[in-house]
Formats: sequence, C-alpha cells, structure tokens
Amino acid sequence: MRTEQPKMITLSDYRLPDYLINETHLTFELFEDYALVHARLLMQRNPHLDAHLPLLALDGQHLELVSIAVDGQPLSAVDYRLSDSHLELQPRQNTFELSSTVRIEPQKNTALEGLYKSSGMFCTQCEAQGFRKITYYLDRPDVMSRFTTTIHAEKKRYPILLSNGNPIADGEDEHGRHWATWEDPFKKPAYLFAIVAGDLWCVEDSFTTMSGRAVALRIYVEPENIDKCQHAMDSLKNAMRWDEEVYGREYDLDIFMIVAVNDFNMGAMENKGLNIFNSSCVLAKAETATDAAHQRVEGVVAHEYFHNWSGNRVTCRDWFQLSLKEGFTVFRDSEFSADMNSRVVKRIEDVAYLRTHQFAEDAGPMAHPVRPAQYMEISNFYTLTIYEKGAEVVRMLHTLLGADTFRKGSDLYFERHDGQAVTCDDFIAAMEAVSGIDLEQFKRWYSQAGTPELQVSDSYDAATQTYQLQVKQSCPDTPEQSNKLPFVIPLSMALLNKQGAALPLQLQGESAAVLDERVLSVTEAEQTFTFINVAEQPLPSLLRGFSAPVQLRFDYSRDDLLFLLQHDTDGFNRWEAGQQLALQVLEEVVGQIYDTDEPMFDTRLVDVFAVLLQQEDLDPAMLAEFLALPSTGYIIEQYVHADPLAIYQAREHVSNQLAFALKEPMLARYQALRKASLETPYVAQATDFARRRLQNMLLAYLMRTEDLDILDACVDQFGVADNMTERLAALACLVNSPFTAETEQALESFAERFADDPLVMDQWFSVQAAAGLPNGLERVLHLLHHPAFSIKNPNKVRAVVGAFSTQNTPNFHAIDGSGYAFLADKVIKLDALNPQMAARMLSPLTRWQRFDLHHQEMMQIQLKRIRSCNDLSADLFEVLEKSLAV
Ligand code: TRP
Ligand code: ZN
Repeated sequence: MRTEQPKMITLSDYRLPDYLINETHLTFELFEDYALVHARLLMQRNPHLDAHLPLLALDGQHLELVSIAVDGQPLSAVDYRLSDSHLELQPRQNTFELSSTVRIEPQKNTALEGLYKSSGMFCTQCEAQGFRKITYYLDRPDVMSRFTTTIHAEKKRYPILLSNGNPIADGEDEHGRHWATWEDPFKKPAYLFAIVAGDLWCVEDSFTTMSGRAVALRIYVEPENIDKCQHAMDSLKNAMRWDEEVYGREYDLDIFMIVAVNDFNMGAMENKGLNIFNSSCVLAKAETATDAAHQRVEGVVAHEYFHNWSGNRVTCRDWFQLSLKEGFTVFRDSEFSADMNSRVVKRIEDVAYLRTHQFAEDAGPMAHPVRPAQYMEISNFYTLTIYEKGAEVVRMLHTLLGADTFRKGSDLYFERHDGQAVTCDDFIAAMEAVSGIDLEQFKRWYSQAGTPELQVSDSYDAATQTYQLQVKQSCPDTPEQSNKLPFVIPLSMALLNKQGAALPLQLQGESAAVLDERVLSVTEAEQTFTFINVAEQPLPSLLRGFSAPVQLRFDYSRDDLLFLLQHDTDGFNRWEAGQQLALQVLEEVVGQIYDTDEPMFDTRLVDVFAVLLQQEDLDPAMLAEFLALPSTGYIIEQYVHADPLAIYQAREHVSNQLAFALKEPMLARYQALRKASLETPYVAQATDFARRRLQNMLLAYLMRTEDLDILDACVDQFGVADNMTERLAALACLVNSPFTAETEQALESFAERFADDPLVMDQWFSVQAAAGLPNGLERVLHLLHHPAFSIKNPNKVRAVVGAFSTQNTPNFHAIDGSGYAFLADKVIKLDALNPQMAARMLSPLTRWQRFDLHHQEMMQIQLKRIRSCNDLSADLFEVLEKSLAV
C-alpha cells in the first residue's frame, strides 16, 4: 500500500507557464558509473502575464544537485528549496540565467525514462516527463526553447555522439575522451530532446526535398545489424515523399537520424531530427523479420517522421491534448500504409484491432475521452483511445469534409500554429475555418468516452417506392460520465439490389439522386432518413469502410450476410458481413459447448468458404481476410459476461470442422501458393504479403487435421523457407500441434540458429507463450529461465508475459486462476524496475467486468493482492485504483 496518494492533474486547472526558457545550453559528461549534466537556461518572466515575479518551481526527479547559480552567482542552501519533485527559488529579475549541475546514474536506470543505458550505449527517452530526470527544468510542452547540446564521453566506447539538430563542432578531450556539439535551430519542448552515445554503425542515404534541398538520412544501429536497415531506409524515403505530396510538408533540417535501441518501453520516439526506435521497429530483413514486422517498421518509421510536423513544429499545449499529435499522426501513418500496400486490407486490420482492443478499453474501468479531463500519471494515457480512436476521429473529419477541404484545413492548421503549442480546439477551428461547417457538436468525440451504439432498422414501401432507415444512437455510461449527448456520426452507406448493384440514392426533398454511395450525417438520438424512387426492396450496406468508431446493430439475416459477403461493392463491408456471419455461428456453438462433444453449427459457413476458395478471381489478400475467424478477443467483447474457456473451445471446434470439411481445396491451394513462394525471391510488398498470409493461414487450418503428409509439408516449410514469415508460421503450427517430437526439434534448431538475434528470439518466445495447449503456464515458467530472457528488457517481457496474457486464452484464463496469479507476480516484480511496463502489462486484469463471475472474482483477487503491496509506483497505483473502484 502507498502512503502518499499521487495527485490528480486536471485539464481545467491549466495555467500559462510563469516563466519561459528562451535558450537551453546543456553539457553532458558521461562516465561509466555516473553522468554530470550542466544546464544553462536563459529564462524570462512570461510576458503574457503580469509583471510580478512568482516563485519559480523547476521540475526535477532523482537528481543530485551539485551546484546552482543565478546570473553567475552561486546560490546557497537558503536561496532555494529542494523536494522530491521540485527545485524552488525566487527570481529577482524579469530575465536571468539559471545554471545548474546535477549528477545522475544512467547505468542504474531500469525505468527506461530519462537518460539510460541500453546494450552499452547511452540514450534518452523524455516523453512525456522524462526530461526532469535529466536536469531541473520547466518540463511541460508549452515551454519551448532553442537547445544547444554538448556531449563528452570516452572516445573508444562511444565514438558516436548525437543530439537534436545539426552538428556544429567536435573535438578531443584529455584521457581518451572526445566531445561533440549539436544545435537545434527549432524551438521545442523538452520532451523532444534526445542524446545518444555509443559504438554504432550507420547506413546513409539522402533525400532531395520538394524545394531541392538535400537532406542526409542516417540509420544508426549496432554493427551486427547493419544489414537490416534497408527496409527502414526505403520506408523513410517513401514517407518523406508522401508527406510532401499528400500534405505539402517538407523536412526542415539538413540531417534526419534514426537510432535503434534494444531496451525501449514503446515503439519509437519522434525526438527532433533524432528519432529513437525500439530495434523491433527498425530492423527488418527477409531472413529474420516477418511480413507483419516489415509492415510495422514501415508504419512506425512513417509515424515518427510525420510527427516532425504533427507534433514537433506544431506541438501540444499540455498532455491532455496528446491525441492532437497522436490521433492525427496515426491517421496520417495509416493512410500512408494504405497507399503503400492494400487499402482495404489495411482498413480491415486497423478496424479489427480497434474493435478488439480499443472498444474493450472504452468499456472498462480505464475508459477515458480522446481528450481526458484528468490523470495521475500521464504515461498511463498513451492508450488505444488516444491513438487509435483519436485517429478515427480525424478520419471522420476527413470523411465529413472530403479530402480537398481536409487538406486545406491541415494547411491552415500548420501555417497558423507553426512554432506553437496548441490544443485540439485549434485543430478543429482550422477545419471549421476552411469548411464553413460548425463542428461544435462533433467535438463531443473529444470529451465523451465510450463506444456509441448505432441501432438501425429499415422499412420499404413498394407502393410509394420509398425506403426508410431509422437510426438510433446511444452511448453507454463510463466512469464519471453518464447521460451522454448525441455524437455527429458519419454513416457511409449504399443500397444494393438483388444483383448486388448499388441503387441511386435520393433523399426526400432532394432534386437529384447521388450515385452508388453517400455519407449520412447522424446527429440526433433518433433520426429517420427517407429515400425516394427506390424501385425495389434493397439490402442496405451500412457503415461502409467503418466510417465511424461505433457498434452498429442491424438485424441482418444469415442469408443477407451471405449475400453481402459475396456481393457488397465495399470490400470492407464484404469482410464485415463474413465476420458477422461467423460470429453468429460461433455464438451458437458457445451455447452448446458444455452440453455435447459434437455441437451443431450452421454449415452455410463451410459452403461459402468452399465457394470463396474456388473463386479464381478473388484477391488472395481478401480471401485470407475472409477465412480468418473473428479472434477470441473480439468474440469475448461481444458478450456482457464472457466465458473465455467456452469461447476458446467453440472457436477451436469450428476451426477444426472447417479444416476437415475443406481439406482438399485448402490443400490444393496451399500447395500452389507454397510453390509460388519457393519460386519467388522474398519481396516486402502487398501482393507477396497476401500470398504468404493466405498460404500460412491454410497451413494452420490444414495442420488441424493432424494428417501426416501435411505435417511433412509443414516441417518442410519450416526447414526450407528463406524468410521468417514462412518459417515462423510453420513453427507456430508445430507448437500448436500434438506432434511433440517434431516440435521440439524445430524449436531447438530455431533457437540454435538465431541465438544471437534477440528480435528473432522474441518471436521464438512469443510463439510458445501463446500456444493454447494444456500446461501452457508450465512452459511459460520454463521460458522465463531461458538465458535469452530478461525481465529488464521490455521486448522480452512483451514476448513472454504479454503474449501469454493476451493471446493464450485457455491458459491465461485457466479455471484455477493460475494464469492471473502468474501475471500478478510478474507485474509486482516489474513495478520495482519499470513502472510504465508494469502498468501496461496489468491491463488484461483490469478488464475483469467483461467476464463471468468466477473469472471476475479470480481477477479481482489478484488486483487486490497487487494493491496490498508496498511502494507501488504512481503508474500502477492509478490503474489499480481505477480498476477496483468500479
Ligand atoms: N510519441 C511516441 C509515439 O510516437 C510515444 C512514446 C515513445 C512514448 N516512447 C514513449 C510515450 C515513452 C510514453 C513513454 O507514439
Ligand atoms: Zn506518435
């Protein structure tokens, strides 16, 4: 139990900063057992406030103050006050220079926030509030300053010394040390500051911007990874070109650097001119990284690059505005990925992810609006709601305004606010200014939490040829929010005739029809849309492309869904019809699972899969999406109180039935695809991703038949594949099969071959941690003792503890609660080392309300057990309090 309650920070308490920092001059002296940080801050009373000089409170944590001076005059202990979190002093002048020296211990920093060491190199992570662990400062995003940074370090161990901006000088010190100075001409908040010192190699390229400036591009990695940078470099150049073409945004420094580090709490960080990446989001080559990893690298490289405008040039006023940069940037990167690969597939992947994970967050105790009203620990608010739902909110604006007007709005936003720290209201204001649309009601998406429900019904009158859609919207209560007001919901729709053709759409009162598809704006709690001149009873295709992050309810019959799956002209909605159909079938099986060994299920699912498998002209990417049953996580979300074990078993049962019934066509198709893969050198592009995805999905189905010829094919694919996508998929099939001898051999040979590649070993760990066979927990406990595992490395923790608790349904939700107790043990252990990771890993247990009473109770027991521990971090404390408050 904590003694001191961390305090709540509230949006409405925002006040302008009392002081500004016009220039920040930092000097780092890095040693093996400590570092000295000298800061010289040119400070000024905020001219927007009155002339009196309030107390100056600088943020600072875990700093040992060595000296402090104002305008060159050293202060004595009576001139300032030090606490755990602040250094306070009374300024005497409007402008003054504050100098300080602090001593810190980066080598002991396991929280990976501030200055720390990763695999022998020094690096930093300052977002959101890590800079205060480096020096005393006004660590808030609305204090923007020009930075100059000098780093001194031993030359042999740390030949490369990097910081933001441009290199302006370097030289030698005594005793084998050297130094380098970097100057960043752009004002920035401290959270975008970074340094790196290490023995790194780099891949270099260059990019010519639209105005003809040459920019040097460098990706720094540990020497052994130098052959895994090309894909990230290609992605970077594509992203730079795309941002010029689609948003008119040009890069602004002479050099852009990416550094890959092995120990990192998140994916990557957009520090100005010096992005620091989790190595898992940079390194990729065919032999060691899957297609999914290649796509993640492309997406994250683009995301961090895009932040240079949406985040850095225009930044956030305070952390409540986090989605201003994150939601917008996720929208930008997902559109980029859609343009680089398959647009429909990208949309399907994004929506599946949003509905499984963000909808769950929105329905649980941590639910919060896209712009939260309060927080204890900001690190807990780097959430699916801020990122993914925030991106959906920007996407809805794009849909409502249209691409051209949206672009005018983003141009105006960047132009108006360049160099400023602003709010979500400023973003919306720019969109209002260019469109003339009043977005006041739309802004409820920023303030109201929870996933809205859209209930739609229809009626057709043949006599008058009118067709009506009755639409009702509502939004469930969420912690601290009830009785929500109606949202503005863009409802993209079409009406299909019996042949699957889209009918013209003419609303009552309109003089002409719109062809094919249109976006209805739903703004009321209840609303009716009347279409005229509708020649025949249509079937509606609703929420096309998932035009709003809502839960749509329309009473489609199973035959309607079969029709839409085969004929809808919107690719996303075809997939969605298949998912709804499969969901209905699965839910029926869930209902029977404890009563019979042979539950009955609707064989129309088998029949339609058979038809799809025979369709020569169907895009393999779409076929793969159609054949993928809804994930266990998504099915769980459909229940008020889910029995995870019944759901898992039902999904296994249906998958097995599909495999046996469709074995022949699946095998024929698998063999053809496998042959094509053997004949094609690995390329990281959409058509090849699709082929391998379909091939591997078919293999997974086929392995369920436990046919020995298929086992041979799987072992062959595992051994012969020249790429990690095929190899890992085959390994996953083996690990989930009863063929223990083959599995052990495959695991062993894999571990031997890739022992020196930590990112590949992460995949080896997670494939095993996710395997749903009996005794999963035992195997996971065993993995924790593997020499390649370390609880200090976030990627390893995610690969083992994360994969177990989010992907291993039957073992994590084991009836005796052992899976939950395991997670609680790990969270407690992690909290002492890395609070951000501990709070993140806890999230599966915070979802207890979604489950049946037995599982609820076992989850709560573990939450309470953690809550009773001493010295909990603020991060973990906040999540526990909220989870147990309900
Ligand atoms: N801004 C980063 C992004 O692009 C997020 C991030 C990276 C982060 N590292 C972090 C947030 C550490 C909190 C703590 O999304
Ligand atoms: Zn981001």
